[in-house]
Amino acid sequence: MRTLKCLLMVLLAIAANNGVQGKSALPSFLKICSRSDPNLSRCIIDSVYQLRPLLAQGIPEFDIPPCEPLVIPEVTIDQGHGPISVKSCYRDIRVYGPSQFQIKGIRIELDKGTLQIKLFLPKLSVNAYYNMNGQIMMMPINGAGLSLGNYTNIDAILTMKARNIQKDEEIYFHIQDCTVDFNIGHAQLYFQNLFNGNKELGDAMNSFLNNNWKTVSSEIKPILEDRLAEIFKKFANKIFHKHPISVLFTE
Ligand SMILES: *[C@@H]1O[C@H](CO)[C@@H](O)[C@H](O)[C@H]1NC(C)=O
Ligand SMILES: *[C@@H]1O[C@H](CO)[C@@H](O)[C@H](O)[C@H]1NC(C)=O
Repeated sequence: MRTLKCLLMVLLAIAANNGVQGKSALPSFLKICSRSDPNLSRCIIDSVYQLRPLLAQGIPEFDIPPCEPLVIPEVTIDQGHGPISVKSCYRDIRVYGPSQFQIKGIRIELDKGTLQIKLFLPKLSVNAYYNMNGQIMMMPINGAGLSLGNYTNIDAILTMKARNIQKDEEIYFHIQDCTVDFNIGHAQLYFQNLFNGNKELGDAMNSFLNNNWKTVSSEIKPILEDRLAEIFKKFANKIFHKHPISVLFTE
């Protein structure tokens, strides 16, 4: 029972894109699966799907704002060496499509305190204001403006490891480690206003980036995975640190 509610909390937290100020009473829309359910993972997956539309529109009970689009204020990438050595900054990142996630599998190992979720995302569209300067595969690149991207057929694995912490006589759940591993099926990118608006150079660079999107994204992937893991961990802990286990996880 504890694990199931916890899982729902984690998924709520994953969908949160902003500060979460929890209230002490648990919301009634959390569908709890019974420990004796002969098909537990099925029940968990169903209850998460039941939450999916709520995540898209936002869940005031958790002060979770709408996650369509998911808004990430800023990501900075300072890639110093290798074929891609670029300093870039993305601001006001808007990600459309995260609420269309499909759950491919869930694995819980109670004794180790680990939770693993396999997700599939058919399509994410991302808009952001970018600023970059550096070299991509020996070619200089610089620019500032709007960047657009479509990413399709994304497989993602989210792994979290938790432990208990004690505070004021109560036991709280704490996500200690969180990792994200994703693979993109295909990417389409467009950077407006590259090279100070030089159309010829900008068009050439955009087609170069699209022809080499795999190389480009594999260089940047570890940084993005770390950043996403950090975000998930932060949001999950905002919820877990707010409610003691005795409130979150009754039998
Ligand atoms: C659980 O349910 C799913 C779909 O309803 C089914 O594919 C799976 O075989 C079931 N697993 C068990 C252990 O019954
Ligand atoms: C992303 O997809 C939309 C809809 O299919 C399309 O209009 C847009 O041009 C695409 N963006 C890029 C950067 O390819």
